[in-house]
Amino acid sequence: MLRIGIVGMGIRGMMYARAVNQSGVASVAAVCDVSERVRESAKVLGVPVYASHREMYEQTMLDAVIIATPDFAHREPAVDAARHSFHVMIEKPLATTLEDAAAIRDAVREAGVYGMVAFENRWNPAFVAAQDAVRQGELGAIQWINARLNDTIWVPTEMLSWAARSSPGWFLLPHLADLAVWLSGAQPRRVYATGIRGQLTTRGIDTWDALHIIVEFEPTMTAVFETAWTLPESMPNVFDLKFELVGDKGAQFINTQDQMVHQAGERWIYPGTLVREIGGRLEGFPIWMTGEWLRGLAAGQPVGPSIEQGYQITQLCWAAHQSAETRQPVNLDT
Ligand SMILES: NC(=O)c1ccc[n+]([C@@H]2O[C@H](COP(=O)([O-])OP(=O)(O)OC[C@H]3O[C@@H](n4cnc5c(N)ncnc54)[C@H](O)[C@@H]3O)[C@@H](O)[C@H]2O)c1
Repeated sequence: MLRIGIVGMGIRGMMYARAVNQSGVASVAAVCDVSERVRESAKVLGVPVYASHREMYEQTMLDAVIIATPDFAHREPAVDAARHSFHVMIEKPLATTLEDAAAIRDAVREAGVYGMVAFENRWNPAFVAAQDAVRQGELGAIQWINARLNDTIWVPTEMLSWAARSSPGWFLLPHLADLAVWLSGAQPRRVYATGIRGQLTTRGIDTWDALHIIVEFEPTMTAVFETAWTLPESMPNVFDLKFELVGDKGAQFINTQDQMVHQAGERWIYPGTLVREIGGRLEGFPIWMTGEWLRGLAAGQPVGPSIEQGYQITQLCWAAHQSAETRQPVNLDT
């Protein structure tokens, strides 16, 4: 059995603990979190709980580590994990600065460990269907992509304690950008963005409310991305993810906000169906992603979106923020 450590035991860390322990090829050997309150609740796992990743890395034999700290806090635990020769799966975004992303990329390369970025939508059945259609030539060459991933204002104001140190462009855009590159095979070359601020800053969270981003790709393709953190809380689902791919032979229209069930009651809601507990196990695309990563490690093979791909998406997201700030287009390195 592979021995896995988890850094950051918030929403995602606890989900990963279940995914690892039900995988059949790995188990959680230790976890850590800087918050005492979170450490207390992580004791339910019955493994050592450390206050820092350094302590955990020094004192536990591990094969691989999952980094599930806030967006801006991936660098230190990821770089130190690579230096300890642990394989790593790192939450998206890889980092929120180009310097941090490059440091992680270089550390993983130098150590020769397997690194993966958790772009879980590559395991989401809707996008797997899109990839099948693209591969089978049903859509032809992709001409443009129109995509939005927005959250209700509950996410930055209630769910995340660190929203001011992130933005919709770091928390949400990486999903859209990775899907665009993965599905089309085209490479992003130039980014134009604009955005608005106001609702969140009024509430003391100094970040973008929304960003609108246009990206030019090579070979010729354009994409329009929308990411926002200020949808009304009365929305039927906490997120709104829509993704349209238009090719020269066909098009696909994906709507994962609609989770197939519409429920009336005190409010009109779309209860989540894509990640659920079934027969005592957690099932759904993040769990399948984790299982495939672990089976790959057990077989001695890297799986999934590489750190290099994570770096490319970080560059695109960085360019979006840069462009929105300066009101100038930003060219991406080739
Ligand atoms: N792949 C996805 O689709 C997806 C979905 C949601 C969140 N995420 C990403 O997962 C990451 C975690 O998000 P979350 O929702 O679980 O956040 P969270 O705030 O619930 O959990 C983060 C935890 O990390 C801890 N932490 C902070 N700094 C630390 C450090 N240096 N060492 C150890 N622990 C530390 C915090 O105390 C907190 O308990 C973020 O990067 C987020 O964008 C990814």
